[in-house]
Amino acid sequence: MPVQNRPIVIAHRGASGYRPEHTLESYRLAIEMGADFIEPDLVSTRDGVLVARHENEIGWTTDVSDRPEFADRRTVKAVRGVDVEGWYTEDFTLAELKTLRARERLPQLRPANRAYDGRLQVPTLDEIIQLARRESATRGRAIGIYPETKHPGWFQSIGLGLEEPLLAALQRAGWTDRDAPVFIQSFETENLRMLRGRTGVRLVQLLESSGGPRDLALRGDARSYVDLATPGGLAEIATWADAIGPHKDLVIPCGEDGRLRAPSPLVADAHAAGLAVHPWTFRSENSFLPADFHAGDPADAAFAAAHGDAPGELAAFFAAGVDGVFADFPDIALKVRAALS
Ligand code: G3P
Ligand code: CA
Repeated sequence: MPVQNRPIVIAHRGASGYRPEHTLESYRLAIEMGADFIEPDLVSTRDGVLVARHENEIGWTTDVSDRPEFADRRTVKAVRGVDVEGWYTEDFTLAELKTLRARERLPQLRPANRAYDGRLQVPTLDEIIQLARRESATRGRAIGIYPETKHPGWFQSIGLGLEEPLLAALQRAGWTDRDAPVFIQSFETENLRMLRGRTGVRLVQLLESSGGPRDLALRGDARSYVDLATPGGLAEIATWADAIGPHKDLVIPCGEDGRLRAPSPLVADAHAAGLAVHPWTFRSENSFLPADFHAGDPADAAFAAAHGDAPGELAAFFAAGVDGVFADFPDIALKVRAALS
């Protein structure tokens, strides 16, 4: 059963505005709200099981730092080329990770979510697929998954490649062709090119607003994401991907005053190349909104966490012709979509 809605609403890390991200409760709430897709970021455990975490470093999204039994796992790694000290999923078995509990990643901005700290587990990809399939059957509508392979080159380099277990999990679910309710995303290019030859499900090239794909840099290709967002770059991406997932600034840039400027040609250029466009990330807090949509007094201590006019921002992007949005507050994106349709 394919997802029919357009533009699609992708629940970014679940309904992460309301629950600690990447927990079954966050995904479940997003489904209740009506999201079309739930988005897990995927990393590997030591025993090769895919689990959902924003990063493989889990010191700030779990209670691992308070667990004396894991104190000796604290280490320094350069996953992105820069040393980061912490605890890494690839140093834990699934059984060990399951003893940890999730924590709200943005406690200053989302203090209400701290009520769930210490109560929720790190979910596996299989658990997330089971949730999506069960809820699809119960609700009579397709709920898809939109997994991101996190640091795929890093995981390949340590013998824990993400692609084989991901393909195996999708195969078990019967999700192998273009009609499957699945998009696989990556900031790197090499693993998407490989996946293009291994699965029919839709693939998404993520594009940051600065920097470039790590795999390209490591093989001496200095092209940036901005280079890839040109018509020539998009034509190349279209040989391995079905969509792009750009930072929202690449779709409608902000000026120095923090306010939205005119939309860039990216949506038209991507569509001309046959690529759908799913920008990220739409969030309600003033901290993440263009100045056009701020609410309240910036001098107020509560300003950063206060909610601004998120529907206004979403409406601007829907008007720019995007085909989907990643939203931390999927209920708001769904309301805007309904109002515009
Ligand atoms: O996957 C799209 C969006 O989530 C951007 O990536 O780093 O926030 O997982 P990240
Ligand atoms: Ca992601």
